[in-house]
Amino acid sequence: MPMTRTVALITGANKGIGLETARQLARKGLLVIIGARDEAKGRAAAESIQKEGFEARAVRIDVTDPATIAEAARRIEGDPGRLDVLVNNAGVFAAGKDGPASTTGVETFRQTFDANLFGLVAVTQAFLPLLRKSSAGRIVNLSSILGSVAEHGDPNSGIYQMKVAAYDCSKAAVNMYTNHLAHELRGTAIKVNAAHPGWVKTDMGGPEAPMDVVDGAKTSVWLATLPPDGPSGGFYHTQVHMRW
Ligand SMILES: NC(=O)c1ccc[n+]([C@@H]2O[C@H](COP(=O)([O-])OP(=O)(O)OC[C@H]3O[C@@H](n4cnc5c(N)ncnc54)[C@H](OP(=O)(O)O)[C@@H]3O)[C@@H](O)[C@H]2O)c1
Repeated sequence: MPMTRTVALITGANKGIGLETARQLARKGLLVIIGARDEAKGRAAAESIQKEGFEARAVRIDVTDPATIAEAARRIEGDPGRLDVLVNNAGVFAAGKDGPASTTGVETFRQTFDANLFGLVAVTQAFLPLLRKSSAGRIVNLSSILGSVAEHGDPNSGIYQMKVAAYDCSKAAVNMYTNHLAHELRGTAIKVNAAHPGWVKTDMGGPEAPMDVVDGAKTSVWLATLPPDGPSGGFYHTQVHMRW
């Protein structure tokens, strides 16, 4: 029998905002698939959701490794045989290497773009055939306020002084990709949006971050479960549109 439940794949979901997004979507009744580059960590994350009584699976995806993406798409197409929600959550920040535009090394740019942009594009393209079959496809791209050109150009913005060139450029590119894909998919059942989760206490966000992971997942969860009249092609934080 074909699966009738809404199915969500979340990349980089073995910890942090990704795992919490998966947990909150599972609590809403979705079947969640944890994408993780480390198989054991992915399984452990899925089990932590199963222990709460919800259905969760794990699949190995390293977003920088096309073979793992293709294999994951093949497996999900086989079982559960559908995909309604893709949360492109996996991301990196090269702490200690990323910084000023004049000195941050090209290799740091490459590694950051590899995961944050090229990986996101590769995963999206691999799963689009399945998402197109959904009656309500949703794609959520984890961006950041640090990817906003408008915020970086505004001396009154809270992030005006926070310039980490490789990461910021990669998230600005995620925003542009979101815009282009949403435009291409307008008139279909698929909505594509970018999310700024907030500054969130995770391994990436650090202990100083003001938001806990429960609140940090809320923007992704909202965009993953938008109603038919919800927006597409936007950049949101807690249901408020961000400046690009
Ligand atoms: N925390 C914040 O304040 C904040 C603010 C704005 C935006 N964001 C964005 O939100 C997303 C989640 O961040 P987070 O704070 O939850 O970070 P995190 O705790 O460091 O988690 C990042 C996740 O991405 C995974 N990942 C990294 N490279 C990967 C790859 N090549 N293939 C597959 N998975 C990969 C990590 O897997 P491993 O465990 O294997 O490394 C981990 O599961 C990121 O896109 C980040 O840029 C975060």
